[in-house]
Amino acid sequence: MTHSEHSTPLEARASGPLTGQVRVPGDKSISHRALILGALAVGETRISGLLEGEDVLNTAKAMRALGARVARTGDFAWSVHGVGVGGFAEPSSALDFGNSGTGCRLVMGAVAGCPITATFDGDASLRSRPMRRVLDPLALMGARVTAGGEGGRLPLTLAGARDPLPIVYRTPVASAQIKSAVLLAGLAAPGVTTVIEQEASRDHTELMLKHFGAEITSAREGAHGRRIDLTGQPELHGATVVVPADPSSAAFPVVAALIAEGSDLLLSDVMTNPLRTGLLTTLREMGASIEEGEVRTDTGEPMARLRVRASRLRGVEVPPERAPSMIDEYLVLAVAAAFAEGTTIMRGLHELRVKESDRLAATADMLRINGVKVEIAGDDLIVEGRGHVPGGGLVSTHMDHRIAMSALVMGLASDRPVKVDDTAFIATSFPDFIPMMRALGAELA
Ligand code: S3P
Repeated sequence: MTHSEHSTPLEARASGPLTGQVRVPGDKSISHRALILGALAVGETRISGLLEGEDVLNTAKAMRALGARVARTGDFAWSVHGVGVGGFAEPSSALDFGNSGTGCRLVMGAVAGCPITATFDGDASLRSRPMRRVLDPLALMGARVTAGGEGGRLPLTLAGARDPLPIVYRTPVASAQIKSAVLLAGLAAPGVTTVIEQEASRDHTELMLKHFGAEITSAREGAHGRRIDLTGQPELHGATVVVPADPSSAAFPVVAALIAEGSDLLLSDVMTNPLRTGLLTTLREMGASIEEGEVRTDTGEPMARLRVRASRLRGVEVPPERAPSMIDEYLVLAVAAAFAEGTTIMRGLHELRVKESDRLAATADMLRINGVKVEIAGDDLIVEGRGHVPGGGLVSTHMDHRIAMSALVMGLASDRPVKVDDTAFIATSFPDFIPMMRALGAELA
């Protein structure tokens, strides 16, 4: 990633009502998957509404380096001519995934099923994140790390399997990235590859594989889990993919509208896949006014228009089994909790420690420096809501886009402005965040 040496700080101050209608950018998870499956399919894949954020653009570059033809054909419109399952060419230089764990881990899976060697790298944040969780199952399928990878970290070189083996794999943590890596490697294996997860994670890979012609089934497993069976060596055919708006990006204007007095906001085409809507469920339990217009499914994923009105919020307890459906939203939920009356307890947040930053620690720091009482107890986060936030703090971004956006949202309703040290990383997932929020009435300067 080419972030400048100089950081770009920004301050958010108490803003009037946020009003208007916007469509936040395309879903990041679906955008990565559309490019990767397009590259593994035969024929042309046409994608509309692609997220043109740095994370996804790095995946597009990686697909090109692996032999697919990837072209931008219009605004957010992309075309991919794929090479077929198992058909990746060996890249001539290292694949750089920048800040993106999703891009890196999914492509590791896709490469693991091909008889090629590729080097994976990323920025300082990605280099600090655990890769063994993906490399372990890929090793069972026949892929090997041939260089680097000390401590399970990037940079590392992965040699894909000449004859990948189908496996039955129980994921040790609820992670769509681990599940997807195994399934993408399993595409090239003969027979059935099975992933069993104790808690269901987002199922975009499964839905999209089916859309591209793979034979794949998903069944309930236990109280909250799923069992996924994929038949290997399908002929994936190019497909049309319409990317709905990203609920994880919508989360920022949603919470901003809830806390900025008098706000009334419309958000179009927000994906409402139930494995992504834990935040909406939680906010509604807190008393949020969020109405869902008619749900459409013409994109293969459900989506709806959301109407969000400023609301008085109260503290709630968020159960651990809800975590996979809102794993990227706890930072901004913690902001809502700080403006609520009463205590919010968010349980089972261990996975937050291995995101773009240690988000458990970063959330506590962000709130504390702005005068909010907060505690980490084991894997739980406890926020004492007092109906208002003093503000006045400078928040460290830690190369994490969601910290920057959450802190700026907090500043829109806090007593004193909130400053973030660096907004550059917002470009990884929500390049237009600042102008879009300003257009809605946010005071960001
Ligand atoms: C993602 C899965 C989640 C999430 C990430 C996107 C995906 O990560 O945090 O932003 O697209 O599969 P984990 O698989 O590590 O939970």
